[in-house]
Amino acid sequence: MAGPVCIYGNPVLRKQSEHVNAVTDEIRALADRMLGIMYSAEGIGLAAEQIGRTEALFVLDVPPRADEDEMGRPNNPGVKMPQAFINPEIIGASEETAVAEEGCLSFPKLYVPVTRPAEVVVRFLDRDGNEQVINAKGLLARAIQHELDHLHGVLLVDHMTSIAKVAHALLLRKFKKENKAAR
Ligand code: NI
Repeated sequence: MAGPVCIYGNPVLRKQSEHVNAVTDEIRALADRMLGIMYSAEGIGLAAEQIGRTEALFVLDVPPRADEDEMGRPNNPGVKMPQAFINPEIIGASEETAVAEEGCLSFPKLYVPVTRPAEVVVRFLDRDGNEQVINAKGLLARAIQHELDHLHGVLLVDHMTSIAKVAHALLLRKFKKENKAAR
């Protein structure tokens, strides 16, 4: 039985998202629905494409307790969660990179190490339609980059080395097969 979240192999996950022209009640309702689906799936982020939509929109709720530096200090104090990111754009990234295991609701039970810039600056519209700029590091920076990938049709599998793809070949094939069966 297919859940509300699109699984790897569903062609919508490869779509390029479309610019949101106005932050309407419909967009807010979509963001709220996405948060609900994300919470039921116990995720910390969800992009519109993962529920079959193409709006340039993702939602995040990164728990501050999971986003601390090695001294136990919050990485992103002052950043409000949950947050809807509409028409998000990365306008700055650190040269310093970080590697950590990532999961994705479109790839259940798959966790792979991904290297990304350690810090990013993201510009977006919030659910009130106000422009915001956030300097993010730690888990939040990673989550923003992961979700932004989705809006460009880029998926966890694209960050996997060929060795990792071979190691997880069975699981990747299973996702694709289940997708065919669901359609
Ligand atoms: Ni994902």
